[in-house]
Amino acid sequence: MTAKVIDGKAFAARVRAQVAEHVARLKEENGLTPGLAVVLVGEDPASQVYVRNKHASTIEVGMASFEHRLDAATSEAELLALIDQLNADPKVHGILVQLPLPGHLNAELVINRINPAKDVDGFHISNVGLLGTGQKAMVPCTPLGCLMMLRDHHGKLSGLNAVVVGRSNIVGKPMAQLLLGDSCTVTIAHSRTRDLAEVCRRADILVAAVGRPEMITGDMVRPGATVIDVGINRIERDGKAKLVGDVHYESAAAVAGAITPVPGGVGPMTIACLLANTLTACCRAHG
Ligand code: GUN
Repeated sequence: MTAKVIDGKAFAARVRAQVAEHVARLKEENGLTPGLAVVLVGEDPASQVYVRNKHASTIEVGMASFEHRLDAATSEAELLALIDQLNADPKVHGILVQLPLPGHLNAELVINRINPAKDVDGFHISNVGLLGTGQKAMVPCTPLGCLMMLRDHHGKLSGLNAVVVGRSNIVGKPMAQLLLGDSCTVTIAHSRTRDLAEVCRRADILVAAVGRPEMITGDMVRPGATVIDVGINRIERDGKAKLVGDVHYESAAAVAGAITPVPGGVGPMTIACLLANTLTACCRAHG
């Protein structure tokens, strides 16, 4: 079998177009412009690229973008004061603090200072609790993007066996909660799971979010399964820089029913969902 390639780039473009249409309507009918504030502390090169892309996409869909670039030596008190200011700003509907933060800053404290209604990352402990109890929450963007692609491909997910490889707060755990919410039978596996290959082979839906390049190989994939690759790993091969996922694409695509590529799979959906969450936050704020 050769897997159907799930085109995240095209899907994300459709989501962004829908968001843009809704933003235009909000402006015309209610005089409202959704606003997203992104806070970057320090000069991490990967974070700088992400923040630049977020800014460009925000503007493209007609939203207001507020970028705050702070020195790597910014104190916790200064950062918390900025978040307080953004929480109080009616033009700001969504706040994202780019992670990782420099080591002297307590990420949990900082994230939990964000007004949960403006927490478009869905990382605030209130949103984590709401999602875990099946209540209306801000949902983390990457797992939300994965769920949208899975629903689009499968229709109903009810009763399917889902295996999530990875237990991070950003992807693995919320992904598992979302799949459970759609009535999948969910297993969370990770780098210490015994006989990982056997566990993965039970999956109708296999989500790889473990952060290890090409760790999930074709022999770990059930024939016909849907494989969602969340990994973005920069490696060097044959002297060239290359971007690979957590899935060994060639061997997995030969067995799977459907698969997301890297790049062009989950990645573009993350930003599209961030914009969708910002729109949701704006609509809820003006209820
Ligand atoms: N760094 C890597 N991924 C993310 C994300 O989804 N949100 C934030 N805030 N930082 C990140």
